[in-house]
Amino acid sequence: MLPKGFKLSSRLWLSSLGVVSTCLLLVYALLGISIWRGDNHMRYYSDVLVCNGTSQERSYENSTYNNDLNLTSDTMINLTVDTPDPKLIGNGKDLIQPLMKRVVNFQNNIILFSAVAGNSSSKHIWDTIDIQGWEHKSLSNNTYKCCVRYTSGALRMVPAIRINWTNWVTEMNAVQFVCSNLTSRTGDLPDVATIATHKMECHNLYDWHLPVTFAHAHKNEIAVCSKFVYGSVAADDLLSWFELHRRLGVTKVLVYTHKLNPEAFHVLRYYRALGIADTVPFIFRLDDQHNHPEIGVKNVQAWNDEQVPVFDCLARLRGYRYLALVDTDEYLISNRGLPWMNMLDDLSAKHPSAAGFNFYVKVHVTSWNKARTCSQFKVGQYLNSTRPMTERWKHVTMPDRLRHGSQTHTFNPNEKAGFNRHVVSAEDAVIHHFRSCRTQWIEENSACIQFGQSADDTVSKLFEKIEPDVLKLKARIFESQ
Ligand SMILES: *[C@@H]1O[C@H](CO)[C@@H](O)[C@H](O)[C@H]1NC(C)=O
Ligand SMILES: *[C@@H]1O[C@H](CO)[C@@H](O)[C@H](O)[C@H]1NC(C)=O
Ligand SMILES: *[C@@H]1O[C@H](CO)[C@@H](O)[C@H](O)[C@H]1NC(C)=O
Ligand SMILES: *[C@@H]1O[C@H](CO)[C@@H](O)[C@H](O)[C@H]1NC(C)=O
Ligand SMILES: *[C@@H]1O[C@H](CO)[C@@H](O)[C@H](O)[C@H]1NC(C)=O
Ligand SMILES: *[C@@H]1O[C@H](CO)[C@@H](O)[C@H](O)[C@H]1NC(C)=O
Ligand SMILES: *[C@@H]1O[C@H](CO)[C@@H](O)[C@H](O)[C@H]1NC(C)=O
Ligand SMILES: *[C@@H]1O[C@H](CO)[C@@H](O)[C@H](O)[C@H]1NC(C)=O
Ligand SMILES: *[C@@H]1O[C@H](CO)[C@@H](O)[C@H](O)[C@H]1NC(C)=O
Repeated sequence: MLPKGFKLSSRLWLSSLGVVSTCLLLVYALLGISIWRGDNHMRYYSDVLVCNGTSQERSYENSTYNNDLNLTSDTMINLTVDTPDPKLIGNGKDLIQPLMKRVVNFQNNIILFSAVAGNSSSKHIWDTIDIQGWEHKSLSNNTYKCCVRYTSGALRMVPAIRINWTNWVTEMNAVQFVCSNLTSRTGDLPDVATIATHKMECHNLYDWHLPVTFAHAHKNEIAVCSKFVYGSVAADDLLSWFELHRRLGVTKVLVYTHKLNPEAFHVLRYYRALGIADTVPFIFRLDDQHNHPEIGVKNVQAWNDEQVPVFDCLARLRGYRYLALVDTDEYLISNRGLPWMNMLDDLSAKHPSAAGFNFYVKVHVTSWNKARTCSQFKVGQYLNSTRPMTERWKHVTMPDRLRHGSQTHTFNPNEKAGFNRHVVSAEDAVIHHFRSCRTQWIEENSACIQFGQSADDTVSKLFEKIEPDVLKLKARIFESQ
């Protein structure tokens, strides 16, 4: 079922994946040059000093959402001071190589992306494996079984339960197969997995299997699935996002990278070395047409392609207390300045049957004028935003309370019986989405013009406090290159 507003919201969402526009390319090119200049340290610090007087930027008469900002909160201040030594601790490694696998007898009509093992309960260890990938639409009535090989060499087969996540049919549909009730001797771990039809035997061609990865419990931590980071996304945008969210209590971010520029990749490598980011290189399906998300934005195939990392991420990070599905240009900020754990625990206490929370989204359109030019970062520059929007909800979930088949495109977690989802008031917290106005919006519905602007400096006020540290960090990250 697609909710009302799907067309625009999916387009917004898809197009937010790559913050690619001529304008941004230009900004990026300029920053890229400054990074390589010998005098970069001086430049960064002097840029900050220019920001000294803030009265000019604060001339908004009514900015209702900011009044309660609690920047004196002890926790927040503690979190804003120290930046750990950015020296790279090794280069980090990609979490997995994209070992996309075909299935014997199906040529390119089934492509498998990953297999992730989890526990159905604390007593049933590694008894579930989620396999995600793509399947050609002509095969959608097939039934399969999971073929799992263990470290001991044992083979186990269970029915592969197909997850229905949408009625939307494209050539190659994103699919997830759940293999449940796998049993094994203590210490015998699932090693590799694949699927076979019902009637076929499980084969033993090792190279045709996916390696199994394991989801671990992190019950006191918060993770983010950030889908794609690709192409010309600016290193600065990643820095500002990671530095703010790290301070807000996010401890793991799973990032799917695709043809990322070297500066942005260098930033990710730093967070990878700190253990905050895990990167998964993502190749769009073998069809080269889909190697260009800008093209993909216009077709529903891309919409399907993007569900694959969502399945993957939900499976890998299911052991976290909270799991947010937001991108690295979306800032979830409590209007009281609370760290995420406090904000989410408060919400959970008030709404004990919630399996997840939906947050309204305010778009800070980066093709509007900058309200503050003294900041180097979009989050410090674009104070004006749209009103909180209802049909562009993003969510934070409690993975324990979800069934399989949750997704982002309609912003619907798929909660277990007895749980529901709670829509968080825009007075409590919103997602601030920094992005350009797409030409399509202007052409098709004048969205960027029709959305009224109003001032909201919630993010910039927080960021202002850490910008000097972020600039120091940036200088050190690039110095060490
Ligand atoms: C910053 O502002 C304060 C007060 O407005 C002023 O006293 C100080 O000289 C300013 N510093 C710089 C470097 O402009
Ligand atoms: C701010 O003021 C304008 C005009 O006075 C009004 O139209 C608008 O609704 C106000 N915004 C908020 C968020 O109260
Ligand atoms: C702001 O922080 C102070 C000190 O931690 C606390 O006493 C106060 O209740 C907080 N205010 C809000 C609105 O959260
Ligand atoms: C903040 O840091 C101080 C000094 O390191 C410490 O005593 C205090 O407990 C910290 N507060 C919080 C809320 O972490
Ligand atoms: C799947 O089965 C249904 C019901 O028998 C049928 O209507 C549909 O055309 C089949 N789909 C494909 C792709 O074969
Ligand atoms: C998926 O949909 C098909 C047909 O609509 C149905 O037969 C099947 O039981 C569904 N599978 C799950 C896991 O809900
Ligand atoms: C797994 O086993 C349980 C308990 O025996 C059973 O209720 C459940 O239906 C099984 N699930 C699948 C997918 O076979
Ligand atoms: C699954 O169980 C193993 C063994 O107890 C544990 O190490 C792992 O963290 C568990 N994973 C999850 C997601 O709970
Ligand atoms: C931000 O929005 C306000 C209210 O609509 C407007 O007056 C102001 O000019 C805008 N600021 C910028 C920098 O465009």
